[in-house]
Amino acid sequence: MAASVPARPLEGRRLLLGVTGGIAAYKAALLVRLFKKAGAEVQVLMTPDATRFITPLTLGTLSEREVLIEIFPENADGSWTKHVELGLWADLFVVAPATAQTVAKLAHGFCDTMLTATALAARCPLLICPAMDHDMYLHPATRANLERLRSYGYEVMEAAHGELASGLVGEGRLPEPEAIFDRVVAMLAGETKTAAGPLGGRHVLITAGPTREALDPVRYLTNHSTGTMGFALAEAAARRGARVTLVAGPTALPTPPGVTRVDVVTAEEMHAAVQAHRDADLVIGAAAVSDFAPEAVSPSKIKKTGDEMVLRLRPTPDILAALGREKRPGQVLVGFALETDDGPANARRKLEAKNLDWIVLNDPKEPGAGFGPGTNRVTLLARDGTVEDLPRMPKRAVAEAILDRVATAFSPSTAG
Ligand code: C5P
Repeated sequence: MAASVPARPLEGRRLLLGVTGGIAAYKAALLVRLFKKAGAEVQVLMTPDATRFITPLTLGTLSEREVLIEIFPENADGSWTKHVELGLWADLFVVAPATAQTVAKLAHGFCDTMLTATALAARCPLLICPAMDHDMYLHPATRANLERLRSYGYEVMEAAHGELASGLVGEGRLPEPEAIFDRVVAMLAGETKTAAGPLGGRHVLITAGPTREALDPVRYLTNHSTGTMGFALAEAAARRGARVTLVAGPTALPTPPGVTRVDVVTAEEMHAAVQAHRDADLVIGAAAVSDFAPEAVSPSKIKKTGDEMVLRLRPTPDILAALGREKRPGQVLVGFALETDDGPANARRKLEAKNLDWIVLNDPKEPGAGFGPGTNRVTLLARDGTVEDLPRMPKRAVAEAILDRVATAFSPSTAG
């Protein structure tokens, strides 16, 4: 066959698939099929609660192996060390969906079921795919548990944004089986960590576009941002081998190849989406976030009365400043400053106030700079006091230039 992607990319591979008790457990059936069709041997491990959502018969039939649940099953054949054997047998262990409960157990080394005991015994790489309600997902306990899993070297595939079983819309959806499958293939091919260049394998989070703050069902406050600069940065970072999450306000731009996009509308939504991915190694805030939102959204269209209209506005969260307050060692934060007056001094003040490493200054009043699809002319200010004026260039070239500078923070020679 001439195709460059092998038809059975998991031929001969041994996978453990851990399934836990969330509504997304039904997607495990599709995952088993994808893994099997790609040539893998699949052993399914379910938590007891997962069996309320999908039957062991379904997953056992699709995987052609008996599903394992209890660590001490009633019909045990005397081999209580199965969790150890399986932990040695597997090339990769993927837990999808991983509920908040299982994430917590894995983070703290519990081993009360076959799934958790095998995870503790496993020598292979682990991929954890959390799926749960939005608020549970964003709870500091869950965020801390996921961070802990990462500190053990586990890969965490952040949940997607979308409709949840609770009827809410937000972060917490299990990524589509195809996306999980692709990540498994990439992990086994060793691609995630070895992509060339200092951004290879890094998680890069970029905000882009405007936000919209509703006044009533038909009107909103926004700005002229098109999202072009942020999308160009996302595309360039993905080309450099980074794992890119792009949190985008309303824009008509297409998603760049290889980029995971999270669409949001308001500043609050952008803040929540960014918080959900704040583990990123590099965060670039290119969005033009509305600084104010109407204090109250009128449930019906505001009528004209002929009188003066007074709007009361409240401040929105400063998304980058919030990240700056919690910046981890080694994390790099980059902001944009759109200044019409006294640019360099204002930009430097923002860099310091928001605890950023770089700030990209541009002037919307200057021809060929600021908002719009065309070119930009920016000045880069670094935390160490360096200032660099770049010439006017297409936004894609500006994106490459910004990444060239910022990536030095991740080069082995300069990382400290
Ligand atoms: O404070 P100012 O809005 O000028 O700062 C601009 C930078 O801060 C940009 O990088 C922008 O994306 C980010 N920002 C933010 N949240 C806000 C306002 C701005 O992340 N509410």
